[in-house]
Amino acid sequence: MTLNRQLCLSRNIRQGEAVTSELFEMKETPIPEPGEGEFLVKTSALGFSPAQRAYLMGEESRFHEPIEIGDVMRGRGVGEILVSKNKDYKVGDVVACSTGWQDYSVQSGDIGELLVKTLQKVDNPQQPQYLHLGILGSSAFSAYFGLLDIGKPQKGETVVVSSAAGGVGSIVCQIAKIKGCKVVGIAGGKDKCQWLKEFVGVDETIDYKNDDIDAKFKQYCPTGIDVYFDNVGGDILDLALKNIALKGRAVICGMISTEYQEPPLPGPRYYYNVIYKRARMEGFFVWDYFNQFPAAEKELIDWYKSGQLKPTEDVFKGLESAPDALQSMFDGRSCGIKIVDF
Ligand SMILES: NC(=O)c1ccc[n+]([C@@H]2O[C@H](COP(=O)([O-])OP(=O)(O)OC[C@H]3O[C@@H](n4cnc5c(N)ncnc54)[C@H](OP(=O)(O)O)[C@@H]3O)[C@@H](O)[C@H]2O)c1
Repeated sequence: MTLNRQLCLSRNIRQGEAVTSELFEMKETPIPEPGEGEFLVKTSALGFSPAQRAYLMGEESRFHEPIEIGDVMRGRGVGEILVSKNKDYKVGDVVACSTGWQDYSVQSGDIGELLVKTLQKVDNPQQPQYLHLGILGSSAFSAYFGLLDIGKPQKGETVVVSSAAGGVGSIVCQIAKIKGCKVVGIAGGKDKCQWLKEFVGVDETIDYKNDDIDAKFKQYCPTGIDVYFDNVGGDILDLALKNIALKGRAVICGMISTEYQEPPLPGPRYYYNVIYKRARMEGFFVWDYFNQFPAAEKELIDWYKSGQLKPTEDVFKGLESAPDALQSMFDGRSCGIKIVDF
């Protein structure tokens, strides 16, 4: 390949609009050359987060820096170093970093600006490399630190997970099982609930599109929810707070049900239970744990090798499929961690 294919934003997304390839233009530009201290990475796979939709919103994006029209879509990927002018990174090394939606990127090796760079050297290259965006990537780290550091689940406790069949959720469920908890997974539809029971190994499921969520919480969590891992916000968070156990913990990871749109939704009605049940609600940001990623990775690899942690990647093929992979998170089309393999 002699050119760098880049998916660049051609216009901002509208409220309620699906992410499609119409929002992007595929440009072909010369492969960039690394300067002193830099290196060239050839992308082999991309990872996704629902928050990336907010990058497309332009001025309406409240929490995330928007992408300028004409710029390459920002995103995390994994790839191999082809050319290096940085003594700490050799040709052939594999790195996970902010590659953007393109074939080649120049990286500085600087991990100072965590939000933008988040460069992670992959010392234990697994096959395929995309595992470093999957069960050994940021979704898995979000599950690991959110559940263990904020949720602090104890053996025998009941852990409820929303968007349990999603990327972060499917790993939270597995780690909670490893820790000896009873796990209740919430997902949309019969097929996802079946996948959660048969593949992920949860104890009970709630189909939030068809079940009475409140009644199911009372049935599966008769003494209340000890840990609620929230990926969705909205009504499900509200009902989880209504059913929180004494000294329960609500881990606030994401709010996909709001589509990250403006204006924000009103807050949960049952938040008063935080007082009555002496419960705790705490949000977290995975990149705050960046320095602890290597230790987490070691434990995740051990669980993976022992068969306790199963990969849940759902692989799309080719750079062109990146908009569709992102959209699939909003229409709930697929299970597990979304990956685009080049
Ligand atoms: N705090 C952090 O540092 C951090 C880091 C990474 C991710 N996050 C957040 O964590 C959450 C999960 O991320 P992920 O990458 O694993 O995404 P994900 O769960 O794989 O997201 C896709 C799933 O969300 C569910 N969903 C979509 N719309 C919904 C709605 N209106 N109500 C309920 N569920 C809905 C769908 O599943 P169903 O078919 O079951 O509806 C869909 O498959 C996201 O909100 C993300 O922004 C936070």
